Amino acid sequence: MIIKNICCIGAGYVGGPTMAVIAKNNPNIKVTIVDINAERIAAWNDSDLSKLPIYEPGLAEIVKDIRGENLFFSTDIDTAINESEMIFISVNTPTKTYGKGKGMAADLKYIELCARNIAKVAVTDKIVVEKSTLPVRTAEAIKSILHNTGNHINFDILSNPEFLAEGTAVEDLLNPDRVLIGGESEVAIESLAKVYGSWVPQEKILRTNLWSSELSKLTANAFLAQRVSSINAISELCEHTGANVNEVSKAIGMDSRIGSKFLKASIGFGGSCFQKDILNLVYIARNYNLNEVADYWEQVIIMNDHQKRRFSDRLIKTLYNTVSGKKIGMLGWAFKKDTNDTRESAAIYVTDHLLSEQATISVYDPKVPEVKIQADLNYLNTRSKNENKENVMSESSPYEAVKNAHAVVIMTEWDEFKNYNWKKIYDTMKKPAFIFDGRNILDKFKMKEIGFEYYSIGQ
Ligand code: NAD
Ligand code: UGA
Repeated sequence: MIIKNICCIGAGYVGGPTMAVIAKNNPNIKVTIVDINAERIAAWNDSDLSKLPIYEPGLAEIVKDIRGENLFFSTDIDTAINESEMIFISVNTPTKTYGKGKGMAADLKYIELCARNIAKVAVTDKIVVEKSTLPVRTAEAIKSILHNTGNHINFDILSNPEFLAEGTAVEDLLNPDRVLIGGESEVAIESLAKVYGSWVPQEKILRTNLWSSELSKLTANAFLAQRVSSINAISELCEHTGANVNEVSKAIGMDSRIGSKFLKASIGFGGSCFQKDILNLVYIARNYNLNEVADYWEQVIIMNDHQKRRFSDRLIKTLYNTVSGKKIGMLGWAFKKDTNDTRESAAIYVTDHLLSEQATISVYDPKVPEVKIQADLNYLNTRSKNENKENVMSESSPYEAVKNAHAVVIMTEWDEFKNYNWKKIYDTMKKPAFIFDGRNILDKFKMKEIGFEYYSIGQ
């Protein structure tokens, strides 16, 4: 099947970059990204590229190059569906906040809405591609909706999970370790393989059955998150034994069976997917009565929550057991560097904990605006919006954020933090001046030489 028009439903962190790279590499395919969020679509269409809704290195350049040529952003979902031979579903699949499976299962209501919409408006055969991360066997439900409510046309369902990481999305998409396509129809699978084949070598395009593809995505995230929780567990032991977690990471990572990536001890993993996908995996395992399997994976989340909590506990204990009325300067709010995404960022939970101990927090993040910081805290519902506003300030200069602070906490590993004038920061802080480096990015000897009381993870 020759693909001339692609529609992608969902203009988010996955839909935007993924489709931009597909369009860039397939100038003969018209790619239209649609969304119900008109504000987001307007931002994607903004002539000022600094206003794109998503910050990703290299993305604005691609959008500038091909927007209006073969890449379009629109709110007219029905027209885009009808014009396309292939439709990607790339909407959010957050953890359910209500009903059965609350706090564990993936909420599939947006997926179902998409399927129903496609079924309602499509009048020619379509290949429907699951790009969102979904519980294993979701394709069955999508197929049932499409075939039972559609206009008696043929729908082929493919699973094509996305493995990009935020902050490196463009690079990951241009040079993927693999592209995974699961499906039943060889014609549909090869149509999608051809789209990727315009820049991805064939040997990296893996074909599987639908269920292996769906489950591989959850499994990949579970394994990655497990590595972070594993090294974070060791970081606590390091703090009690005099071992240094950076040295341990290096020593074990040089074993080619273990590998060096994803062994950075941290304040705990954040982001929109690791926690939600593992919770979903645990939920699925429990549904099949596989309690040992569920308990095994749940421990990754338990360890991650512990890591965030013990970081703020250690800070409070070190600041003479009280942070009440003390200013804490926070550097970084995003869940990792090079993104403006803050979903499940450790900064939110550490701030919440410190606010409960009556600290005031002053935040600087190069890409996260104040309104987002306040929205993240308000979403927790721990205290009133006014209290959050009164006790959490956002500064446009890092030096202002840490001025007169009792402690600086580093939450995100932004490169610029390493190059600040730390002597100048020290001079403006209350003494003793503490640093709690949740990312192990500063030079501990240099910080101690300046006069800081320096604490990091696992050292
Ligand atoms: P997102 O929240 O950034 O974007 C989803 C978009 O879908 C939103 O703009 C929303 O308005 C839109 N949407 C929801 N329902 C819709 C509907 N019925 N019609 C039209 N638009 C609709 O989410 P995201 O981070 O892009 O994640 C999307 C999926 O990809 C999730 O399943 C996620 O697990 C998966 N994923 C995410 C990443 C990542 O790094 N963020 C990586 C790999 C996979
Ligand atoms: C992760 C996966 O890496 C992607 O492959 C996947 O597609 C994506 O989830 C998804 O499904 O959403 P992402 O969450 O964007 O990508 O970013 P990561 O680089 O994986 O970082 C996740 C969290 O782990 C961050 O908070 C990061 O700081 C933390 N981390 C990562 C560590 O603490 N230590 C490490 O060694 C690596």
